Amino acid sequence: MKVGIYPGSFDPITKGHLDIIERAAKLVPKLVVAVLVNPNKKQGLLSDKERVDLIELATQSIPNIEVVYFSGLLVDLARLYEDAVVIRGIRSGKDLEMELDMAQINWQLGKELETIFLMTAPQYSYVSSSVVRELMAFGGDIKAYVPESVYDRLEKNHIRGESSGRC
Ligand code: PNS
Repeated sequence: MKVGIYPGSFDPITKGHLDIIERAAKLVPKLVVAVLVNPNKKQGLLSDKERVDLIELATQSIPNIEVVYFSGLLVDLARLYEDAVVIRGIRSGKDLEMELDMAQINWQLGKELETIFLMTAPQYSYVSSSVVRELMAFGGDIKAYVPESVYDRLEKNHIRGESSGRC
């Protein structure tokens, strides 16, 4: 039985992420949503715990999900599960280029750890956590881009962040 691991920065989780989570959870008996560090991204908006909390909030109704935080290589997380497969969403050709590199490194390091790509639903193809963070920094409306429960929590906590200068 395969365990699906859906890794990401999730800073914060978006509607695009949630769509992939909902679809992936139908493909595998158990889906582990893993908050991992992306070394190419500067210090984020949310703490690791806040990212995990928001994912748990948004995925409450999905029974076969576990949300974890992991500091280290994705292949080392995958080793903790008996029979894991990585799941990633692809929004565009640009994503594919980067994702191929990552999947190939993980395949080599992880002793043939497989990656399954799910296409992002067209309505979320331009949605990203960095766009959301940029909007938040300038007081823009993020309601259309994050799950409703996440929107309510972020609004309630008056989380704003600062602009990265690029989306
Ligand atoms: O949401 P993101 O930022 O696209 O997610 C990228 C992430 C966190 C999945 C990726 O950077 C990752 O797997 N980081 C952990 C370290 C690792 O295993 N890197 C792959 C070998 S280069």
